[in-house]
Amino acid sequence: MEPSRRVQELTPSLTLAIDSKAKAMKAEGIDVIGFGAGEPDFDTPEHIKAAAMGSLDAGFTKYTPSSGIPELRTAISEKLKKDNRLDYKPSQIIVNCGAKHSCFNALLATLDEGDEVIIPAPYWLSYPEMVKLVGGVPVIVPTTAESGYKITPDQFRDAMTPRTKMIIINTPGNPTGAVYTENELAGLADVALDEDILILSDEIYEKFVYDDAKHISIATLSNDVYNLTLTVNGFSKPYAMTGWRLGYVAAPEGVAKVIDSLQSHSTSNPTSFAQKGALAAYKGPQDCVMEMHKEYDRRRKRVMELVDGIGRISYVRPQGAFYILLNIAQTGLNSTQFAEQLLAKEKVAVVPGLAFGDDSTVRLSYATSMENIEQGLARIGEFVGKLS
Ligand SMILES: Cc1ncc(COP(=O)(O)O)c(C=O)c1O
Repeated sequence: MEPSRRVQELTPSLTLAIDSKAKAMKAEGIDVIGFGAGEPDFDTPEHIKAAAMGSLDAGFTKYTPSSGIPELRTAISEKLKKDNRLDYKPSQIIVNCGAKHSCFNALLATLDEGDEVIIPAPYWLSYPEMVKLVGGVPVIVPTTAESGYKITPDQFRDAMTPRTKMIIINTPGNPTGAVYTENELAGLADVALDEDILILSDEIYEKFVYDDAKHISIATLSNDVYNLTLTVNGFSKPYAMTGWRLGYVAAPEGVAKVIDSLQSHSTSNPTSFAQKGALAAYKGPQDCVMEMHKEYDRRRKRVMELVDGIGRISYVRPQGAFYILLNIAQTGLNSTQFAEQLLAKEKVAVVPGLAFGDDSTVRLSYATSMENIEQGLARIGEFVGKLS
């Protein structure tokens, strides 16, 4: 059977290739240290699990409205107001099956065939693939370490063509850990406003910002910016709920309606009892998020300390999310060679930056134990030390 043309254009996931190699080695009993996983290593907090289990016991096992249960949409609306200073009515919020699904729905709802989407690189690897899947054209704009891996207004303007429909801003960013300041966002927003470019603002890592960085939601900048923005967020990263598959998109009323409609014909609603867990996540105590934040920050600092001792590897101090992007250009290897050789020789799994549109880097996730961090970076040090 011939797969569709659309699917044939998909790039196979490099992350998964390395990940499955590492898993196969682990299954053989080899002591592999994994820095690949883009997910919290914590368990979902107990009160969230209890809420979902309680709802199952109570028989909350049927279809819900496709856009999500009203009490969750209200809780999200309140959260966006309180945490982000964003005014979205519950009717403007559509709950989806993970923030990835929210991004996908947002693109499907707004892009026509051939519409161009500006994606600053290094990027989260699903963005270009999702854009292609819905018929759009990804326009990759490489950023530099000098700009902190952030796209500048000039770069944004230069990348624009008459077909430009949208820019994707991911702050805090995966894989860079970059956090845009209010001024930087304002500069980008001005360019978007000039040409009525839509903004997909992926804020899934908002709870994990460090040092003096502050998370800003671009839609707060002005009413006009708000009207161009689709804000994506969710539960996977802040509450260690990756397997629950719950995210949401908040958008101007008309777009939200369309997303609800297309979701009703694809996945219907997000899982009923998972939504009750999400409700508990937003309504319950937030100290669990603060504890995870504290632990990520401790690990982040230790990772930077250990990398500083290696030499020939540089990085831009990550201010958000739970990743560090290491520049390995001085080792003379490209990102795939580095990742493959590191795995083969020292049994350490990292993600080659090629997957994120930057072949001179590899990504490490510090959503792993301090013991793994200590051991893994010692092995990376050995590996780099032995390179000629
Ligand atoms: C930038 C970014 N956005 C969205 C997602 C998807 O999150 P979810 O698990 O909620 O679908 C990820 C997951 O890795 C991510 O890194």
